[in-house]
Order: sequence, then structure tokens, then C-alpha cells
Amino acid sequence: MTHARQPHIQVVAHRGASEDAPEHTLAAYKKAVEDGADALECDVRLTADGHLVCVHDRRVNRTSNGRGAVSALELADLAALDFGSWRYGGDPGDTEGPDWDEGQDPADPRDTSVLTLERLLELVAENNASGRRVQLAIETKHPTRWAGQVEERLLHLLKRFGLDTPPADGPSPVRVMSFSARSLHRVRAASPTLPTVYLMQFVSPRHRDGRLPEGVRIAGPGIRILRNHPGYVAKLKRAGHQVHVWTVNEPADVELCVRLGVDAIITNRPKQVLSQLGRA
Ligand code: G3P
Ligand code: CA
Repeated sequence: MTHARQPHIQVVAHRGASEDAPEHTLAAYKKAVEDGADALECDVRLTADGHLVCVHDRRVNRTSNGRGAVSALELADLAALDFGSWRYGGDPGDTEGPDWDEGQDPADPRDTSVLTLERLLELVAENNASGRRVQLAIETKHPTRWAGQVEERLLHLLKRFGLDTPPADGPSPVRVMSFSARSLHRVRAASPTLPTVYLMQFVSPRHRDGRLPEGVRIAGPGIRILRNHPGYVAKLKRAGHQVHVWTVNEPADVELCVRLGVDAIITNRPKQVLSQLGRA
């Protein structure tokens, strides 16, 4: 079902267009931009030598041909790995593989090496310079272990790209998300106007009335919260918050999000969701 006259809902590509290309690779983000996503979601972790890379898991085992924790590896170690072969069957040139769909080309191997946040920011900057606007929703992973270093490095990079402060006349091209209120607090302390998103897997008693940690403007509930407590969206809205929901892949869940009036849908399938919303 399409929704031709609904209010604008942002479609955010979760780990890039991660249903069509290996998650967190340049290939996945290029595809998301091509599909017309309004924003790109990525997770960031620190390497042993202090670089921020876009990797979801603590270890690289699931999404690369290597092994080990990101925090124990240097950027050069990660750069030697292939982050596409787990989707393309072992060898990027090999068309036989568990996730191989007929008619789908494997991504250019240059686009499936480890993705630094810096490179992703370049992609966003290149894209936005060409006139088409895409936003970035960056999630800090494991921020407690690093006692502020993830946020420090993140804000340093955003500053270099001129993205640490939203423009006076428009929406912020970047927002920072986390399950950790402390991480978001660190971000706001350093850059008070940068929007922050408080991610929630469940609703803790202190947030049951729709209020979020001090200074957070956006709520990021998981779709399961909406399925079990649809009234929670109205509570968050009454408390003055935007609502960005993850990870919404099923048409019935998109429908639920539309009905409840959420502001953003975070999905592995931006193309399909845009189509369901009547925007593709
Ligand atoms: O966008 C929020 C969502 O990505 C949080 O869950 O595990 O996919 O990072 P996860
Ligand atoms: Ca994430």
C-alpha cells in the first residue's frame, strides 16, 4: 500500500543499502544514495591506532575474511581485509555464494574494503556538493570502554568537515545516535547544537512517560517497542521529541510507522520503503 499524501518521513539506509550490498561498505552507501535515501546510518568503532571505522560488531569475523576485535587491530590490518566476500561467496570475482542473487553484480572490490568514517564523510560531502542532500546518522559503538575517545575523535572529524555545527538556516546534515546517554552527553558538551538520538531497545521506567535524557531531542526506539506499545510514539511526541525507528524492513511495520506518525524509518531496504511511501 502506498501513502501519497502523508507527511514527509525520512528514509534512512541502515548500514547503507545493506540488503543489496555488504553492510558498512562504500558499495552499500553508494547504492543507498542512488536509491534516493534521505540519510545514511553507520556504526563507528575505534581501531587500536585511533581511527574511526564503520563496523557494527566488536569483531570483524562476521563481515570480513579476517578475525579479531576492531579495537585490537590497526587501520592497516583492517585495510588488508575484504569486507564484501561474506556476501559475495568468498572471492569478490566469484558469482557463486550464499547471498548471490542472479542479475546482481558483485560490488567493485575497491568499494568493499574497510570503510573509515572519514571516507564516508567525503562521500556525503561529494554528494552534497553536487546538490543532492543526504544526511548522516552516526552511532557510537562501545563508547563506555573508550572513555570519551570515540566522541572526541568523532567531533574532531566532523569539525574538519564543517559538520559539527548545524547551519542556522536548515537541518543538521549530521546527527549522533547511541544507546548510551553518557556518550550523547559527551557529544552535546562538546557540540551543543548537534542533534542527538537516544536509542532504545526497550522502554526503561524512567523514560515511560516519553521524557528522554537531558538535552536529547530525538528518540530512537526499536520497531518492537512500537509493535508492543504503539501509544509510546504519542507520548514521545507530546514530550516534544522526534521519533526515528529502527530497523524497519517489513511492509506491515512501515505501515505501522506511518500510522503512528514517526519522523524517520531506518531500514536495510531504502528502495522498497521509498516505494511503499510513494516516493520512488
Ligand atoms: O539505527 C539504530 C540501530 O542501528 C541500532 O541497532 O544493532 O543495528 O546498531 P544496531
Ligand atoms: Ca547501528
